[in-house]
Amino acid sequence: MPNIMSYRFTATLLALICCFCQPDSRAQSAAPVPALKDNARFPIGVALNVGNEPGDMADIRESATLINSQFNSIVAENGMKMRFLHPAIDTYDFAAADALADYASTHGMILHGHTLIWHHDYQLPVWMKNYQGDWQAMLREHIQQICRHFAGKVKSWDVVNEAIDNKHPKQYRATLFLEKLGPAYIEQAFIAAHEADPAAVLYYNDFNIESKSDKLQFMLDMVDDFQRRHIPLHGIGFQMHVSIDSPDIAQIKTALQAVAARGLQVRISELDVSLNQQQKAASLDPARAQLQKTRYRDIVSTYLQSVPPAQRGGITFWGLLDKDSWLLDNKPYPDWPLLFDDKGQAKPAYFGVLEGLKESQ
Ligand code: G3I
Repeated sequence: MPNIMSYRFTATLLALICCFCQPDSRAQSAAPVPALKDNARFPIGVALNVGNEPGDMADIRESATLINSQFNSIVAENGMKMRFLHPAIDTYDFAAADALADYASTHGMILHGHTLIWHHDYQLPVWMKNYQGDWQAMLREHIQQICRHFAGKVKSWDVVNEAIDNKHPKQYRATLFLEKLGPAYIEQAFIAAHEADPAAVLYYNDFNIESKSDKLQFMLDMVDDFQRRHIPLHGIGFQMHVSIDSPDIAQIKTALQAVAARGLQVRISELDVSLNQQQKAASLDPARAQLQKTRYRDIVSTYLQSVPPAQRGGITFWGLLDKDSWLLDNKPYPDWPLLFDDKGQAKPAYFGVLEGLKESQ
């Protein structure tokens, strides 16, 4: 039962009520603004929900005007995680993800796959938690069934997500995969994915690698080892769930440059800028909205300054409208982390991104 105090639940409920009061409440005609995708020579993406977790293709179609005008890359926020694609050991369910892939193809968008291997309990298949067989063969089959199915539809994958311990960043996170296979599960995942779909661009994705130097260094050591051994890791996804003032932009620049210097693709994979995780204010302060605009501009500008054009895997925002954000989950206070407000109107944050993109023109 969702936490009825959660803002995301409340916001969604209000949207549903509005649907009855007025059609297409998610797609209210917003003032037209320039297209972000037309101001970048690399993918500009957004995370969307399919398979009713909590949104679905109906929501996407309702917001299609905004999505199609602004973005040329999409990723499933939840619907392509492990238990949704692989609900039982001999069962794969690609229906919802195929609908998203069809949408991407119809609208000339890239589909990024998130994520083949992740420890998070919400999306770990129950059968996998109890699996007693050959773990290496099972994970290989999991990855290869999915990568073969989406070959030609999914351009790039988060092959492994968040494998480094965030609290003790000089070691791998103690996950079921580490327990069963040791750190080798990571390289095995990349090798399996590359064999199944040699054309796919394969990423390691994590958070706080732009803010924790120990975590960044541990990841860089893994990358260097993989490059020495020709493990097919092609890029790094910096999730970039940040706030207005942390981490500082110099630290972000250092991290992006360190990965770019290794010749890898670099994605900002889950960008949002929270305004209220500390303040817990009941309403949005316009001055903070302007600080958020500056923050988005500086992050985009730093990405362009730090990553050579050929290595720019793109920037993806972790949600379309503020009310869609995971940051509202189970919180008794709101947040406004994204580019568009709950009516699809461009916020100052959107204009910050546009200014950052234009700086590179
Ligand atoms: O849909 C169910 C609903 O039926 C149920 O009543 C409710 C009970 O709480 O849960 C709902 O599912 C929630 C789901 O999001 C859909 O809203 C899960 O509890 C909740 O854990 C899940 O959170 C997602 C989270 O990943 C965990 O998978 C967030 O939406 C999603 O934005 C977040 O995304 C992750 C990236 O995949 C990896 N990087 C970090 C990022 C933020 O955590």
